[in-house]
Amino acid sequence: MTILDGKKVSNDIKNEITEQVSKMKERGEKPPHLAAVIVGNDGASLTYVGSKVKACERVGFESTMVRMPSTSSELELLDKIEELNNNEDIDGFIIQLPLPPQINTQKVLMAVNPDKDVDGFHPMNFGKMALDMSTFIPATPFGILELLDRYGVDTQGKHTVVIGRSHIVGRPMSILMGRKGFPGNSTVTLTHSHTKNITQITSQADIIISALGVPNFLKAEMVKDDVVIIDVGITRVPKEDAPKGYVITGDVDFENVSKKASFITPVPGGVGPMTIAMLLKNTLLAREYKNLK
Ligand code: GUN
Repeated sequence: MTILDGKKVSNDIKNEITEQVSKMKERGEKPPHLAAVIVGNDGASLTYVGSKVKACERVGFESTMVRMPSTSSELELLDKIEELNNNEDIDGFIIQLPLPPQINTQKVLMAVNPDKDVDGFHPMNFGKMALDMSTFIPATPFGILELLDRYGVDTQGKHTVVIGRSHIVGRPMSILMGRKGFPGNSTVTLTHSHTKNITQITSQADIIISALGVPNFLKAEMVKDDVVIIDVGITRVPKEDAPKGYVITGDVDFENVSKKASFITPVPGGVGPMTIAMLLKNTLLAREYKNLK
């Protein structure tokens, strides 16, 4: 069994990006600049955005965090997006999700200039992704592809089962694994809350990508020998004696499933760190696309 070490791979990627940024600076170019908008005070979202800003510093990017109160109106957020769209200094930006209930998420994501949409959430970029055109691939799916690639995990002709159809992970992952090329060329089954007898499906899977958010959902009895496991779950489970009062728990019963798996991502330290590294990579791509225009 091989652990797919997202912490190590994401560090390698950040080192590669740092080197590219140094070269840009040597050529007298400005470093890439990423902005992140966060509306409200959700603890997990603040942690994620904080990590994104820290990662920018680490690779030599400029970064801007835009904080807006939880009571912000949709119009106020749309105005802020317009400002970022028109700010020549900013190469790419993200709107941290989820947004408060008074704001229509789809409307907001459609207002982002597709050339600056480093999350790859704009329908134009999502469509391009589905049509094999070069574009921004959402960071978590992009990170999963990169992990599979760097560990040489064979995906061609394999049966990939995706659990969960979220717009951020499950849906794009189901498209990407079926695309032509590597990693891809899989036969994909997308399962969700209405799927009947999920064990019958997971037990036939060569690769399982679980993005459900139910701690320890996937048990050893549900998988076959030598399965490849990608665990995208990151649920905070309360635990009194833990330093933060909670532990981050994946969708997979790691202790038992890892005994049957050929490759498996740990939680934490698997997919999570990859997401941030690929957001940086997309920001670098935003600069490259801009230079091509
Ligand atoms: N919320 C959870 N994951 C993500 C992500 O990848 N991007 C943004 N913008 N918000 C998120």
